[in-house]
Amino acid sequence: MGPVARSRTRSIFSPATDRERAENFESYWIYVQRKNGQILEDAKDLTEKQRALVRFQERAVRSRKPLSESFDRNYDTMQDDPQSLDRRTLLLTFLYKFARHEWVGISAAWDVTPTMAQGVRLIDKISRYHLAEEFCHMRLFHEMFQTFRLEGVEWGPLPKRTKQLYGAFSRLPGALVAPPAFVSELMGLTVYLHTDKMLDEILADEPEVRDRVRALLREIMTDELAHVGERRNFIGPIGLRMAKLMVKPMFRAFFGGIPESTLLFDIPRMMKEAEAFDYSTIAPETLSASWVPSYCWSRP
Ligand SMILES: [Fe+2]
Ligand SMILES: [Fe+2]
Repeated sequence: MGPVARSRTRSIFSPATDRERAENFESYWIYVQRKNGQILEDAKDLTEKQRALVRFQERAVRSRKPLSESFDRNYDTMQDDPQSLDRRTLLLTFLYKFARHEWVGISAAWDVTPTMAQGVRLIDKISRYHLAEEFCHMRLFHEMFQTFRLEGVEWGPLPKRTKQLYGAFSRLPGALVAPPAFVSELMGLTVYLHTDKMLDEILADEPEVRDRVRALLREIMTDELAHVGERRNFIGPIGLRMAKLMVKPMFRAFFGGIPESTLLFDIPRMMKEAEAFDYSTIAPETLSASWVPSYCWSRP
């Protein structure tokens, strides 16, 4: 796959027929297993992602500038005035809160999702596998925190109410879950893209740390990019319209709960980018390692 010109990709909100969606589930399933390997259900792990993590761990990079004090005070709940924190601390406390949301969401979903053996339909298997990928991302996040010598980071619980909300959400019928599940993948991808851009500035003083964090981030981002298309593929025409309407309120609700976010991100711009997302902003090397639904390529 060569460089992608804007004219070659179409909006993620492009329409698709039932038949196209069925074919795309097949092609996604082949792609994702080839890329990430066999599922190890007991360990919530995947063979190829496990290998990737070991490769990072074997050539570990560690920052020479520990930031434990300011991080420790603010990662769970912001204690200081966020304006008073340096950008490195802000980025890490933000990433912790972002990853913790993910952790609570996937843990709640894992408990109510059919296992590989129970799943009859292809979409059941894809959903189970998808969650295993997300658990692999948590391990990559963990390695990211270790890069900053933040050894003891655990995904402490979110408030009980938030946890119950995620639990209730994952038990809703598929047609209702599909649009917000898609938008949360799109929101995640937007966060990764903008974080990637920030690394040059925030970690300029430690190029090896910057490169390592970027490599870890891209290892996650390639999957997340594929998740955007995969979750899009679950949605029919009505759900697709609902999903577009959900972008702004979901971004507001999510970032509103994380005080660091307005200091790091241009959120109105991120909302606009999400609503207009069409793969043209993705680096060719990321795109060629990822997966795009067939109907998001322009037809000859
Ligand atoms: Fe994720
Ligand atoms: Fe994802």
